[in-house]
Amino acid sequence: MTVTQVAPFTCQKDQFQLDDSAHYLNCAYLGPIPRSVEMAGITGLQTKRSPTPFPSSEFFSGCNHLRERFAALVGGTSERVAIMPSASYGVTAAARNLPLGRGQRIVILGEQFPSNVYIWRRLAVENECELFTVHRPGPPPSAARWNERLLDAIRPGTAVVALPHCHWTDGTRIDLVAVGKRAREVGAALVVDGSQSIGAVPFDLDEIQPDALITVGYKWLLGPYSMALAHFGERFDDGIPLEENCFAREGSDDFQALVDYTDQYRPGAVRYDVGETANFILVPMMIEALDCISAWEPADIRAYCVALLESLTNELREKGWAMEDDFWRTGHMLGVRLPEGWELDSLQARLVEAGVYCSLRGDALRISPHVYNDASDIDALREVLLSFST
Ligand SMILES: Cc1ncc(COP(=O)(O)O)c(C=O)c1O
Repeated sequence: MTVTQVAPFTCQKDQFQLDDSAHYLNCAYLGPIPRSVEMAGITGLQTKRSPTPFPSSEFFSGCNHLRERFAALVGGTSERVAIMPSASYGVTAAARNLPLGRGQRIVILGEQFPSNVYIWRRLAVENECELFTVHRPGPPPSAARWNERLLDAIRPGTAVVALPHCHWTDGTRIDLVAVGKRAREVGAALVVDGSQSIGAVPFDLDEIQPDALITVGYKWLLGPYSMALAHFGERFDDGIPLEENCFAREGSDDFQALVDYTDQYRPGAVRYDVGETANFILVPMMIEALDCISAWEPADIRAYCVALLESLTNELREKGWAMEDDFWRTGHMLGVRLPEGWELDSLQARLVEAGVYCSLRGDALRISPHVYNDASDIDALREVLLSFST
């Protein structure tokens, strides 16, 4: 039997407190938090136990550190980072601030995650726009043609292109550098939901130049739930936030003067922060999670996941399981389609029986490891998959 080989990067399992009896290959669903992230949350909770002393500067310092860490990870500017509770919040804030003319086009992908779909559906109706969905042209491998069709759909008259970095069901890669270039050529705004890739795949804002990049913290960034981060470009500098949060206003660090009302927001994207931004539990957890990710480095995390999945990927491909070509996958996760006539539900039941956790998304079995996984997890998965197929 083939045994999985992994890259020189060492498994970080001891940094986590995972269930020893489980093979957790489901980071694309919920990322576990490292021990240090858990400790940061507990310390945050204790801070609020008896808030003496609790200077008002505490409402800003953690948020500023968080902005700095995220900006450093994606190559951005800290004051352009907004702190939010969800991807849908960030996409909605972006969408509500992009001008949409009657008859203009909004481009999305087929089976895109709903948080980056529903607001566009609403705005398309409200503004009499065309919501243009670029569907996968056929069963995988078909990503090269899918990307070509996507570029072709971004035509003059396109107002917005709203995409992920990779498809959430199977990790199919979207060539965002080419998309960004095309969007700029036709004057369209590019909104990217990076929730299924940021942290585990390098992302370079300078290279892609999206107008807005939004990601949840609870998946590949290994942070807490109800924490998302966004980086907004200049298009949004004079926008209207979804809520009027007093800490987003100039001078709000002087609590005594909060009723000296001002129409001036703090610079950059701070105006888009959710209210009660300085969540004393979630913010320190997210900072610690970003510190872990930055120390491990997205390029190495990706390489580690690719190495973990490599031999299994090749075996499944040889056995006729449909998947995208390696070139068109971000590599940190693998979505495979079963050969015709096989039942995903019964496969899923067999996996759970064996303590192997993956997800069914669309018609794909999605396998999503991270640095806490090792070859034994992939071997347990392989055993179920190959016994199922023979
Ligand atoms: C691509 C993508 N975006 C966003 C989310 C989560 O969105 P929200 O934070 O709006 O619940 C998910 C969750 O699975 C996702 O896969």
